[in-house]
Amino acid sequence: MTILSGQARLAGIIGWPVAHSRSPRLHGFWLQRHGIDGAYVPLPIHPDAFPSAVRGLAAAGFAGANVTAPHKLAAFEICDTVEASARRAGAVNTLVFQDGRIIGRNTDGLGFVANLRAHGVDPAAGPALVLGAGGAARAVVAALQDVGVTVTIANRTRARADALARDLPGLVVIDWAARSSAIADCALLVNTTSLGMAGHPALEVDLDRARPGLAVADIVYVPLETPLLAAARARALRPVEGLGMLLHQAVPGFAAWFGVTPVVDDALRAFVAGDLLQK
Ligand code: ATR
Repeated sequence: MTILSGQARLAGIIGWPVAHSRSPRLHGFWLQRHGIDGAYVPLPIHPDAFPSAVRGLAAAGFAGANVTAPHKLAAFEICDTVEASARRAGAVNTLVFQDGRIIGRNTDGLGFVANLRAHGVDPAAGPALVLGAGGAARAVVAALQDVGVTVTIANRTRARADALARDLPGLVVIDWAARSSAIADCALLVNTTSLGMAGHPALEVDLDRARPGLAVADIVYVPLETPLLAAARARALRPVEGLGMLLHQAVPGFAAWFGVTPVVDDALRAFVAGDLLQK
């Protein structure tokens, strides 16, 4: 049981719904590890109430909050300052309330890159192929471009990939049907689609042409090992599991709200993964 003082620091996750979120568990682990006088709570907030609720949290002395679906775009509107990370990603996932101001940033790209590095993968090692063109794809592509990598994208609906390329200059678009042949040129393959997630079809991609040492990252983390990651492991390629991105994207928010930079380690991973396995 955690006993808070009158000076406890408060943060949470705003979503609608939010019950599925693992963030309270993840931040709670770090709060306990560091003995911090603070709490991180789920904040189910209906879209209609989003602006007034965020202003209310800031007025009530919250240090900030994470923002998840369906609020990531609405969060843009409410910020006094939107950092470059959020503009590039096209979404805000982290709010910091500071001196009466609301600051928006996006930590998904940083989390993705930090997770690659934690798996011993240099994100700048060579060209990347990203599958998908949704919000997650945009954050991943922007982060890879920021480390200087040439990124190619393939999406089932080509128009969405073309739209992304208009926002992120330098992004190369290929047809969805060309995804398997494009792997030959890559050092990194990333799945940002929902394919491979529990209850969804598997991603169909052929790793036959993969270079030795190809890193294969999935942002899906339920199941922890998707069929894509299992195929990469079977071929002695370098699988990078998606759970790590969730863990790493949480680091900057925790540091900003609670004043301690936490580490992602095996104990945290096991704690969050254990919860996933029970569901
Ligand atoms: P997020 O914001 O989490 O990335 P999203 O915007 O719903 O979620 O994007 C889901 C991605 O998975 C999209 O790239 C989607 O492709 P479309 O743009 O063609 O819809 C992709 N996706 C979902 N189901 C798919 C399927 N059966 N085959 C191929 N791609 C699929």
